Amino acid sequence: MANLWVKKPLSQLLSTASDSDTGLKRTLSAYNLIALGIGAIIGAGLFVRTAAAAGEHAGPAVTISFLIAALGCAFAGLCYAEFASMIPIAGSAYTYAYATMGELVAWIIGWALVLEYALGAATVSIAWSEYLNLLLGGAIPYEWCHSPLESALDKENVLHTGIMNIPALFILLALTMLLVRGTKGSAAVNVVIVFVKVAIVLAFIILGWQFINPELHVPYMIPANAPDAIQPDGTTYSYADPFRHGWGGVLAGAGIVFFAFIGFDAVSTAAQEAKNPSRDMPIGILGSLVICTVLYVLFSHVLTGLVPYTDFVREGREASVAFAITKAMTGYGWLATAVTIAILAGFSSVILVMLLGQSRVFYSMANDGLLPKVFAEVHPVYRTPFKSNWILFLFVGLFAAFVPGYVAGNLTSIGTLFAFVLVSAGVWIMRRMDPVTPRPFRTPLVPLVPILGMLVCAAMIYGLDSQTQLTAAVWMVVGLVIYFSYSRFHSKLQ
Ligand code: ALA
Repeated sequence: MANLWVKKPLSQLLSTASDSDTGLKRTLSAYNLIALGIGAIIGAGLFVRTAAAAGEHAGPAVTISFLIAALGCAFAGLCYAEFASMIPIAGSAYTYAYATMGELVAWIIGWALVLEYALGAATVSIAWSEYLNLLLGGAIPYEWCHSPLESALDKENVLHTGIMNIPALFILLALTMLLVRGTKGSAAVNVVIVFVKVAIVLAFIILGWQFINPELHVPYMIPANAPDAIQPDGTTYSYADPFRHGWGGVLAGAGIVFFAFIGFDAVSTAAQEAKNPSRDMPIGILGSLVICTVLYVLFSHVLTGLVPYTDFVREGREASVAFAITKAMTGYGWLATAVTIAILAGFSSVILVMLLGQSRVFYSMANDGLLPKVFAEVHPVYRTPFKSNWILFLFVGLFAAFVPGYVAGNLTSIGTLFAFVLVSAGVWIMRRMDPVTPRPFRTPLVPLVPILGMLVCAAMIYGLDSQTQLTAAVWMVVGLVIYFSYSRFHSKLQ
């Protein structure tokens, strides 16, 4: 009888980590990793999902949605950091869980992380496609840059329906090719991209501030009797649902903009290499969260002050930031173009980190025997998990080409939130079951912080739409079927 709770011994983890002659090439310094982390944080969450959350659920109060999402991230991030410091090798929540909570929980977290990384990459590539089309002046026919589940009326009132999203596939292909060759050269480019991204966010906030129309911020939350809005495909969007106005809407918005914080966990991985983890970890995690939260709140305050929130379910649904600039900031057409170019570059770094993260998780799972060996095969020259990268391209590409961005985005949020709930619970459980293993960084106020982490993240899961919840549940059931029919019997530890 297989043991579902078998744990990977710490010594074994550490020896795999030092076995770098046969494994992955370790080329990223701590500094590179931090830059990678920040590169992963600011992306489609801010430049695309903010407008969706404001237009569909929260209105100008999307600022409060950001604060709720940040709170969940802060609590869960502090828990994440304790795990990261207990296992002093670079890894993901999957690795930490395998050493502390056992195989089944590790599998469940690893499976949820596929939603985070793979679907996250798909979401951002779809957003990339929106901004590319804007830059090209709408030159790509609607059919070839949208999924078959989306449609819109053109100026002549002709309804167009998507066939497949080719630009999204293109960017995934380009970045997969880069990953297969190794990411060393891209680290320097990434640092530049991070600076450009932050500069663009600041420019939008500072320049946009003077164009804020205070009337658009009244009322701050969407009222229950808000009139319907007509969407680009001619259908009406109703605010009658309790999660589409008032506090319900703010909570639903939080689940959506939570996407904008995904990636900060990469910072905690980097912090393991800090000289003084007990001090540097909370600074690294909370510091990056605080900076992003301040930027996000100011950014969304400006965005909802430029155009009515209902524009974001209508003509401003796509490439919303450039839309708002063009419509409300006269004389700043150049900013719209600059933002678009910066966003295209910025999104690329986010996609890169997500694809990298996903192939690493698959690599670890395959090395542990939980997934087929092909995911751990390393290229003889480039020393990258190239087969895994290509399989991943097919998988992510399928979503990018045929699924709308909001579907992929919400699934990303829910998968990550679920992993955060488990990690928060895990810290608390581990304190009781294994109090002796040294923890260079200890989560403060256990069990209060883990409980709050679980509650806030679970609330955001609850606020997401039922379609997303159902799809994620099916995904997790599929994961369990694979575990009990394949992984359990191939696990190296068993
Ligand atoms: N946080 C990343 C983004 O917003 C995933 O694109």
